[in-house]
Amino acid sequence: MPTRKLALSLATAAGGVPLLLALWAPAASARLVQPAVAIGAARTVAAPTYMVVSASAIASAAGRDVMAAGGNAIDAAIATGMALAVTYPTAGNIGGGGFMVIRMPDGRATTIDFREMAPKAAKPEMFTDSTGAYSSRIHHNSLMSVGVPGTVAGFALAHSKYGKVKWNTLVEPAVRLAADGFDVPKGLAASLGGAINGKFKNFPASVAAYSKSGTAYAMGERMKLPDLARTLERIRDNGKDGFYRGETARLLAQEMKRGGGLITEDDLANYVAKERAPVTARYRGYEVISMAPPSSGGVAMTEMLNILEGYDLAKAGHNSPQYVHLVVESMRRAFLDRARHLGDPDFSKAPLDRLMSKDYAAQLRKDILPDRATPSAPSQIVQQHESDETTHYSVVDASGMAVSVTYTLEAGYGLGAVVPGAGFLLNNEMGDFNGKPGVTDSTGLIGTDANLARPGKRMLSSMTPTIVAKDGKLVAVVGSPGGRTIINTVLQVVLNIIDFKMPVQDAVNAPRFHHQWLPDVISFERNGIAPTAVTALEAMGYRLRAGGNQGTAHSIMVDATGVRIGAPDARDADAGAAHN
Ligand code: DON
Repeated sequence: MPTRKLALSLATAAGGVPLLLALWAPAASARLVQPAVAIGAARTVAAPTYMVVSASAIASAAGRDVMAAGGNAIDAAIATGMALAVTYPTAGNIGGGGFMVIRMPDGRATTIDFREMAPKAAKPEMFTDSTGAYSSRIHHNSLMSVGVPGTVAGFALAHSKYGKVKWNTLVEPAVRLAADGFDVPKGLAASLGGAINGKFKNFPASVAAYSKSGTAYAMGERMKLPDLARTLERIRDNGKDGFYRGETARLLAQEMKRGGGLITEDDLANYVAKERAPVTARYRGYEVISMAPPSSGGVAMTEMLNILEGYDLAKAGHNSPQYVHLVVESMRRAFLDRARHLGDPDFSKAPLDRLMSKDYAAQLRKDILPDRATPSAPSQIVQQHESDETTHYSVVDASGMAVSVTYTLEAGYGLGAVVPGAGFLLNNEMGDFNGKPGVTDSTGLIGTDANLARPGKRMLSSMTPTIVAKDGKLVAVVGSPGGRTIINTVLQVVLNIIDFKMPVQDAVNAPRFHHQWLPDVISFERNGIAPTAVTALEAMGYRLRAGGNQGTAHSIMVDATGVRIGAPDARDADAGAAHN
């Protein structure tokens, strides 16, 4: 790691000067361009022993306190996740689902899959209206779009297998935050203001919970969430049964019945979180450990890394035309395979070994032209819409155990529906299933079988919580929100660390781009690819579109001396690290 740059970043952070002023002095191997990131409160921090980095500084502190009291990284991840359900309601949740990737100090790795499941009454045609036409409203914006939540079961499974301290101590900080209230931070105040006048409007319980009788909270005002506090108390006292059975389950099922949703108390009682083997890419001597299906993230990223291993990316230069070309061509190919093959592994088998093999990557490299785009075929599958709210957080403890968690309600605030009396927001994750069997069209629908809704099935995800190791040692914990852009965001942070040797805050802040096979367009963070490079890429046959920020990759890196370096992504206003 280039220590001079790191020292500069840390000194700058300590001095309170906006990080990017320091971070955009380009490293020798990188041609960096200042990105479109908003300069938030996020600051690089370094600590000798343990570290949590999340979208909410308050929630990071909850995890830090658990480790200070003897908990391990799993305990801290659970406490942070529970606290995020209070302080970061756009995506922190108990009403959604996600994935946890764990690496033990001895190098063994495992994952917890707590992706939502379709209720028993789900069927492939469930997102069509009475005329048989596909309905985006039913798919993404109705109580039919709610999957059976997985977060509480996932945390309970992780705790029962690998936790160290008592469950109730992990939920208690979230109970306190909800019951006693917390000062609304800047990002949340802005975001809730929009939600109250927007997607909460159809749900009186949401407006009641997250406003002062319809008036938005200002930054710094104290917000209390009493119904959520009582639900969290039931979870604290009864474990996962506090969510999946009894009062909470009854209230959720009652809301479903009222509004035409499908989830019953039986569906809740039958939810199962699963421990699954991770997928591990071997890339230039590093292990890149990530999530297996039902996330597409690990498989797609492995396919991309295997393709890219055949090129000297550092020599091409960061975000140079040649670099963008090669990375985009790897994205194009991996996203095509994602659409063709991936879904819930409990329902259909994908050729994972082949997709992740070096031989397959070598074969794919053969038709990547040195200086031309290879267009995606428009007659093939086109991707469906995805929204932009999820959250990722990273934890490293004193023993070197690392936990990488990405979880979500799917859209920001999920469906926007708080369960009356229970105080938590419902996901709209069923929107990640394909919309209508056999219908793949230019509006963005996919109709392939692997990801059609069926009872008990998990919808395909792009979440890519990831851990990087080398020679048996932990190197980094990485992940991001952002729908399909997640896979590409994590890929680029990993490339920034491995190929460009960037300090972790640079790796996180560096401008990113995205291509997902179809639509056949490169989107990039405004100013993130230099105008001359854009022109060169257009001459190679690419279409490019400048846009806003791509993801928020709250990450941790461990340096050669064992120091934990926390890098909250400056794109997230309320993000923060907490450490010893
Ligand atoms: O599981 C998925 O891939 C999506 N439901 C995640 C949504 C998402 O990341 C939106 N966020 N920023």
